Amino acid sequence: MNHQPPHLHLKERVILVTGAGTGIGRAAALAFAGQGATVILLGRKVGPLERVYDEIEAAGGPQPAIFPMDLAKAGEAECTAMAEGIHRQLGRLDGILHNASRFDNLSPLEIQTAEQMLGMFRVNVLAPFLLTKACLPLLKRAPDASVVFTSSTAAHHPTAYWGAHAVTKSAAETLAKIWADEMGTTPNVRFNVVIPGAVRSPQRQKSHPGEVADLLPEPSAIMPLYLYLMSHDSVGVNGQVFEAQKHLS
Ligand SMILES: NC(=O)c1ccc[n+]([C@@H]2O[C@H](COP(=O)([O-])OP(=O)(O)OC[C@H]3O[C@@H](n4cnc5c(N)ncnc54)[C@H](OP(=O)(O)O)[C@@H]3O)[C@@H](O)[C@H]2O)c1
Repeated sequence: MNHQPPHLHLKERVILVTGAGTGIGRAAALAFAGQGATVILLGRKVGPLERVYDEIEAAGGPQPAIFPMDLAKAGEAECTAMAEGIHRQLGRLDGILHNASRFDNLSPLEIQTAEQMLGMFRVNVLAPFLLTKACLPLLKRAPDASVVFTSSTAAHHPTAYWGAHAVTKSAAETLAKIWADEMGTTPNVRFNVVIPGAVRSPQRQKSHPGEVADLLPEPSAIMPLYLYLMSHDSVGVNGQVFEAQKHLS
């Protein structure tokens, strides 16, 4: 599948992107806005979100919204307030890309701490669960809504030193599949999982410090799959796991 959407394929859609200031999240926010979507840029650091905001405006995209949030501290109340804010300011929500993730470093389980395990669980699993739950009433009201979770090959092939990161990515994928199954009777909301594969990003530099980053694809290279999953073209596709590098443009 080589998805080449026609221009403004996401016109009038409102899409929340977590971890939108850098790497894959930044590329996705630019790609969605480039196809006419209003994107809600969520991240912890405001500076990178503002730079993405400016890039979207400079490219003539619809005015985005910035929502700074530390997902490590997000509880039910914060997520509900966010969903209410989206409803009040934008009136609808057509998609969520759960892309933000905490990764510390590669290390043996023997030295990983409770704080690391719980901290990664909060950002990589609990926050996507709570954000989805809070936004579900809005998503159900959309003509066709798409929720995309981000996994990793480490979840499918857990090997030494990937510790809490692999465990939480595996949990996030399970979460997405359960949402997909439970929403099987609500065909206008679909849930799928993307495994990005190796692309150039700050997190990749942390996980593979010895790698020559220039040899890796840019995050923009894997956007065809993200655009497909956020567009009407993927209506009816639910509970699937996609490897983004098999869908390069
Ligand atoms: N690049 C790869 O090769 C690769 C491979 C497999 C999977 N992935 C997955 O792809 C996704 C994107 O990663 P990336 O490679 O593009 O790395 P990245 O640029 O480092 O993106 C991670 C994002 O997560 C956000 N984040 C981290 N902790 C947060 C928190 N507590 N609250 C809110 N936001 C938080 C960061 O925002 P702040 O800077 O504002 O904290 C950052 O924008 C991740 O889920 C990653 O696991 C990437």
